[in-house]
Amino acid sequence: MLPDDLLAALRNAQHVCVLTGAGISAESGVPTFREAQSGLWEHYDPLDLATPEAFLRNPELVWRWYRWRRELVANAEPNAGHIALARLAGLVPKLTLVTQNVDGLHQRAGSSGVIEFHGNLFEDRCFVEGCIVEPGVEDSVPTCPGCGAQVRPGVIWFGEAIPERALHESFSAAAQCDVFLSIGTSSLVYPAAGLAEIAVKAGATVVEINPNPTGLAALFDHAISAEAGTAMPALLEATWP
Ligand code: APR
Repeated sequence: MLPDDLLAALRNAQHVCVLTGAGISAESGVPTFREAQSGLWEHYDPLDLATPEAFLRNPELVWRWYRWRRELVANAEPNAGHIALARLAGLVPKLTLVTQNVDGLHQRAGSSGVIEFHGNLFEDRCFVEGCIVEPGVEDSVPTCPGCGAQVRPGVIWFGEAIPERALHESFSAAAQCDVFLSIGTSSLVYPAAGLAEIAVKAGATVVEINPNPTGLAALFDHAISAEAGTAMPALLEATWP
């Protein structure tokens, strides 16, 4: 049973800000970042692969890992959680959707204007100039057609800065929204995890949707302890019957 005050806050909201993490893609079969990697990559810690240092140390290994993730995601489908968020955009005056995910599943579910805090798995960039390079199908590390440097996945690695525009748009949405939904994230990685704190300070109604409580749980007005694919359709159905 969802609390009436939450449903009223959502129904009356002029601006809803949503932050999603790997958990919203879990039901699409995409392993969350902190679950043990499966199959071929079970002996690797993502934190040892998703860094510029890892790429410089062993570009072929990092490239192969991202190719494996790209293949996995390309064969995945958006789930009911992604689809509910795409529907939400048509039910509220303004929706800002920020994702930490790089899988593009929100866009494939029909969401537009998605703020990709950590970049996108399907973009490749020149390691030196940072410009976008047309994704090829090479299994080994390609070279930039412009300068000949190695090409890297277009995601934001640990220790790298979040793109300025994504940072600014996300922070201002969190500071201006009436309702903030944090869905499927362990809230461990900043600055993304700081968005909920900004929303709380701004007086928004803050909701966490996650089968497991996170370290920020005490901050939230409401916690829906359920999988996103179940909770999100139910929340929309209860708010706009
Ligand atoms: N529905 C909702 N939440 C779920 C589901 C589900 N079906 N399944 C798992 N979860 C929750 C887990 O309980 C966990 O709290 O999703 C969260 C996933 O946490 P992480 O694996 O830490 O992923 P995330 O929070 O997105 O990580 C943030 O850290 O590792 C970096 O760049 C990486 O973007 C990533 C960032």
